[in-house]
Amino acid sequence: MEKFPKKKFQELVKNIQYHNNLYYNNDSPEISDAEYDTLINEYKNIKKLFPEETMQSDILNKIGGRASDLFSKFNHPTRMLSLDNAMSEEDLKNFQKKISNFLNKKGSDFEFSSEPKIDGLSVNLIYKNGKLVTAATRGDGQIGENITDNVITIKDIPKILKTKSPPVSIEIRGEIFITKNDFMKLNTENKFANPRNAASGSLRQLDSKVTAKRPLKFIAHGFGSFTEEKSSYYDQLIEFKSWGIPISPFLKKAKNLKDLIKIYDEVNKKRAEIPYDIDGLVYKVNNLSFQNRLGIVGKSPRWAIAHKFASETAQTEIKKIDIQIGRTGSVTPVARLKSINIGGVLVSNATLHNFEEIEKKIFVRVTPLLLKEQVM
Ligand code: IVH
Repeated sequence: MEKFPKKKFQELVKNIQYHNNLYYNNDSPEISDAEYDTLINEYKNIKKLFPEETMQSDILNKIGGRASDLFSKFNHPTRMLSLDNAMSEEDLKNFQKKISNFLNKKGSDFEFSSEPKIDGLSVNLIYKNGKLVTAATRGDGQIGENITDNVITIKDIPKILKTKSPPVSIEIRGEIFITKNDFMKLNTENKFANPRNAASGSLRQLDSKVTAKRPLKFIAHGFGSFTEEKSSYYDQLIEFKSWGIPISPFLKKAKNLKDLIKIYDEVNKKRAEIPYDIDGLVYKVNNLSFQNRLGIVGKSPRWAIAHKFASETAQTEIKKIDIQIGRTGSVTPVARLKSINIGGVLVSNATLHNFEEIEKKIFVRVTPLLLKEQVM
């Protein structure tokens, strides 16, 4: 039996907490989602192999960030959840199997919805008798920040629902984001690392006049407490659309995993053409009474999963190569790149770890002599 890698585990926990803080509280991630997912998978693997030694640690059950002191706090009437990830078809089969077992039904007895996982910020919109009264960030899932004044400036979000018989009260959830094109226009001074940070920074402004000038968009992907719901998630979203709430143009129904994988492959192929950053698809059990029966495990619903795309690769130009010399005298060549958006992160530097690699990658022979001269 392998020995519990205590030190490694502690470092991993610290590392994940560090990146959580950057992502959720400072809007400035240093690593891509794919790299973050690798850390999480490593954490989960160690927890699985050493359940007793790692019992005390449950960082995955704490959602997102905490509400900052900049805004007043808002207690969500229904908790805002997170999603488990599926990285492979194997993971999807397990997802379906668990649902089958739990509902005591065959896989063919329940269908799914599918829509892109938008890389933005989730918000909770509270409508009372059809009027938008509060908007709040997710925060830790239970307590978020009250950002109503800022959200009111977003044109996509109706202040009054377009219906003669609005529900007495409803929480509509969705993603606020900035399109890739709008990001390029907005970010001429490279202030933000990616569209998600730009959306988050724009939304959490103390002066709503600043928010009003930012090209924020909204797409709904769920709802909280609501007594007059339809029988399926898909139909519910279509009703939202008739009320003037934007929903995903890629929202689809699927009969089984085969259909879902077909949709996944199609969307993955045209990912670059989709005007905003997405990092996978979200599948949900479509029948709402099944969703209610399936309920929640930890911080995620049993009835939904995020099927992630493999990390994106991209090509760009190397503008120049600088040589960095570390404290110990170690020499690291760093490529300065023409900035490129890879999976939502604006990349403008790449560390080139050794000269053979550089030679392979840029197809040009780098003369070691020249590099030595630059070093000196
Ligand atoms: S469903 C039901 N659908 O992803 C539980 N979330 O990792 C959660 N997200 O906090 C929401 N696109 O901010 C759902 N089509 C989509 C989504 C989506 C993006 C975000 C959302 C959520 C996070 C979970």
